Amino acid sequence: MEIKSYDAIIVGGGLAGMGATIELAKAGIKVAVVTTTHPVRSHTVAAQGGINASLGNHPEGGDDSWERHAFDTIKGSDYLADQDAVENMVKEAVPRVYELEHWGVAFSRFDNGKIAQRPFGGGAFPRTCFAADRTGHALMHALYERSVRYKIPVYEDHVVVKAVVADGRVHGVIALNLVSGELIGFKAKAVMFSTGGCGQIYSKTTNSIINTGFGMAVALRAGVPLKDMEFVQFHPTTLYGTNLLISEAVRGEGGYLINNKGERFMERYAPKAMELAPRDIVARAIMTEIKEGRGFEDAYVHLDVRHLGAEKILTRLPQIRELGIRFAGVDCIHEPLPVQPGNHYAMGGIDVDKTTMSPFVKGFFSAGEAACVSVHGANRLGGNSLLDAAVFGKIGGQKMAEYIKTHEINLSDSDSLMEQAMKETKEWIDGFIDEKNEHNPFQLLNEMRELMMDKVGVFRSEDPLKDALNRIREMKKMVVEEGVTVIVKSRRFHRGLERTIYFDGMLDLAECITLGALTRTESRGAHYRTDYPKRDDDNWLKHSLYWFQGRGKPIKMDYKEVIITKWQPMERKY
Ligand code: FUM
Repeated sequence: MEIKSYDAIIVGGGLAGMGATIELAKAGIKVAVVTTTHPVRSHTVAAQGGINASLGNHPEGGDDSWERHAFDTIKGSDYLADQDAVENMVKEAVPRVYELEHWGVAFSRFDNGKIAQRPFGGGAFPRTCFAADRTGHALMHALYERSVRYKIPVYEDHVVVKAVVADGRVHGVIALNLVSGELIGFKAKAVMFSTGGCGQIYSKTTNSIINTGFGMAVALRAGVPLKDMEFVQFHPTTLYGTNLLISEAVRGEGGYLINNKGERFMERYAPKAMELAPRDIVARAIMTEIKEGRGFEDAYVHLDVRHLGAEKILTRLPQIRELGIRFAGVDCIHEPLPVQPGNHYAMGGIDVDKTTMSPFVKGFFSAGEAACVSVHGANRLGGNSLLDAAVFGKIGGQKMAEYIKTHEINLSDSDSLMEQAMKETKEWIDGFIDEKNEHNPFQLLNEMRELMMDKVGVFRSEDPLKDALNRIREMKKMVVEEGVTVIVKSRRFHRGLERTIYFDGMLDLAECITLGALTRTESRGAHYRTDYPKRDDDNWLKHSLYWFQGRGKPIKMDYKEVIITKWQPMERKY
């Protein structure tokens, strides 16, 4: 089995990962990217609406500032975000957006030539910079082009299946080369997991099929705890039928949400912010309308942009129009779009501090959606996800370079650990090929995704959460004790085997989310308990941590303090 050697390995080639990679290459560090998909096919390219920065370019934007951006972010997070980290992010937002502009990102412009900014949910100012409704695509292409000049090796079609951690530090990762079906080891002094989110745990999601959260599961299994996993964002407007993202930009540009009585129902839920209240509030409002019989076909509401006119729709929202036509047969110039809430984003993730390093495992870094820094707390504002990935990817790359340069690490010390880990990993994966195994992994995967949607969704309460937790734990035992098997036994480009491996890890993540949601007896941000509808700062102003105890064994929880600097918790009103 082959073992390669680098100073730094970046797992995942999206916005955060490639941002880190460029910083490492600039610092002269020997770095490689190991990724399941080519960088320009990462999920970053699906990001539509924009990236927040207090540029203050909007003619009606007034006097925006990093302090106002920080306040909106912290209030939006329902005061669970770590305020020192938020401060870092929003201060870095302005120079980072200009840097990306100088690297060639084709931002939309105002008539005066400045970067255009639109209003987004929960923001007191129009501070979301955008490239029409394809912002992630524009960012990722510019970043990838930038990375090409450094000739950084990118191992694509490689799934990282194990992180090797011993003596409190990381030694490298092991990947499955999908093309050959062989395992390959990558020794490294520092590793960053920038593997994206875990939306595929839910049956209705805006996330693409690559967003299994497996990177988070690999970290968890290596002894790096996850944080705040119960906070799952449901985007209010996903296209009915496919749950493709219908950007908040549609409401930012002036779109209305309408029920079957023709009412702009947000008046009842957020009379000032209306459709531009934060996502948790809008998603609950839509679900309530549907539950109380004011939806269409008991499943969706309308998102109406006809009053914006064809010209605005074609210049500001061209992709949305195309998605509506192709996937719902609806041209939004002439008809409203059918929308419903769907899973969109994990506020939780790999526990790291504001330098992006794990406080528990030296040399283990994480950034982007896979990480929980935490800057989003209990509810992320739209436009802060691209920002988080752009800022903390860069900071992470710089901190990794600093770590590598200031620590004496001999890579040959990792050889025997890597070899042993490769053997164990091979045995684990070979187990999925065994014909004696009883269960079909895809049936169980589908059951898990439906279970999460039905019982661990927008509205939560004790009995459904207990049912879900029991079933997830049962499934974990079935996988370990009775086994799951794939039918095709060949190893080359075995998508079935790949997804079975993911499923094994996704069960752990589903358990973290459900256990956290059951344990947290309050409502905060996106976590809404109908049996505990109030926020409870006395008992729950704290982060949840999740620890792995072995495959098939229950996840263990504990807690850690939220960092409050200058913004004291208040009631959230919009
Ligand atoms: O609605 C959107 O365009 C999504 C943006 C985001 O999640 O930040």
